[in-house]
Amino acid sequence: MNDLIQHWEGEMVISHYDRPAESWIFVGIHSTALGPAAGGTRMMHYASPEDALRDCLKLARGMTMKYAVADFPRGGGKAVIAVPKDLPLEARRELLLRYGKLIKRLNGLFQTGPDVGTSTPDMDVIAETGAPFVFCRSVENGGAGNSSELTAHGVFHAIRATLAHLDGAADWKRRTVLVQGLGNVGARLTELLLIAGARLLVSDTNPELQEKYAADQRVFFIAPAEVFATACDVFAPCALGGILNRETIPQLRCRAVVGAANNQLADSAAASWLHERGILYAPDFVVNVGGAMGITGMEAMRWSAAQAASEVAKIGDTLGRVFRVAAHKQLTTAAAAEKIAAETLARYRST
Ligand code: NAI
Ligand code: PHE
Repeated sequence: MNDLIQHWEGEMVISHYDRPAESWIFVGIHSTALGPAAGGTRMMHYASPEDALRDCLKLARGMTMKYAVADFPRGGGKAVIAVPKDLPLEARRELLLRYGKLIKRLNGLFQTGPDVGTSTPDMDVIAETGAPFVFCRSVENGGAGNSSELTAHGVFHAIRATLAHLDGAADWKRRTVLVQGLGNVGARLTELLLIAGARLLVSDTNPELQEKYAADQRVFFIAPAEVFATACDVFAPCALGGILNRETIPQLRCRAVVGAANNQLADSAAASWLHERGILYAPDFVVNVGGAMGITGMEAMRWSAAQAASEVAKIGDTLGRVFRVAAHKQLTTAAAAEKIAAETLARYRST
């Protein structure tokens, strides 16, 4: 773990071992150049505390990139709570309350919202402690609710911009999109794409969702193991990260990858492999900022719902800019997005 922290370019790491729940809590503050560090709280089981810390640090950096590309006044951070398998519900609630106290003690240095393994009811529990800046609480508790609706809209705008870049316009009726992961974001994205008229292929590892979508006449269900080798125009990863790697990229039969999952590229070489294969990659941190930006805007900056929706729609324009910079500078799209983020960070640092 020393090595991970030593070689990380972020500002601060807070680590805490929660003895009652036998869980590690890591908070990575990657950058406060644009504003206070904000990012979700991920709660899941990891093979080791090192894996949890690695995930936290990588995700925190992703949040910095996300806000910087969108030019949104928040810095990047992330919290990971590495829980044992099958943590009982009551113990989970107690753990969230202790985590809330920790966030409260940070006094606004880190602002949080939901991520994999946490949801709006969990944000309500964390906020019970009086912890400041807990986004996505329920409407009854003064929040703006779940972020996934806005995230899904952002992904939809990104897919439209990608098709426009490839074909001149999004000719939905002739295009097939494969959505991997039918959770909060993937399910909503599927609905938006169906309304637009796209052909839909869907996949999930959850047996209940498999049954539900296999019975849905509007979509075609793909077995999880066959997702990568299935032909489609756009592959939309909306499950977990690391799925674009040495093994999967050679199998892909899509024209573009545009999805919500954080950290889709397993490593920096993956962006080059996609480029070499002629697959247009829409960098995840450009595509999936909609929820975090929209909800933070509504809860902390008095945006109306209409304003949040119009800011989220701009994700398509930002992505178009990333594609143009990549083509102009002969960079991968991931490198072009990093370049735009770095320029925004440098501009804030010098003012
Ligand atoms: P979720 O947990 O509600 O849904 C994920 C779904 O993926 C689940 O249904 C799960 O069964 C499925 N899944 C897991 N492994 C799979 C596999 N190998 N193949 C197919 N399906 C698989 O998560 P949510 O909120 O929908 O988020 C999805 C992704 O988007 C996550 O990576 C998250 O970090 C990212 N994201 C979510 C945001 C949000 O507002 N919810 C914002 C930004 C990013
Ligand atoms: N899971 C969100 C993301 O990765 C995190 C988030 C949600 C942060 C809402 C702030 C507010 O973008």
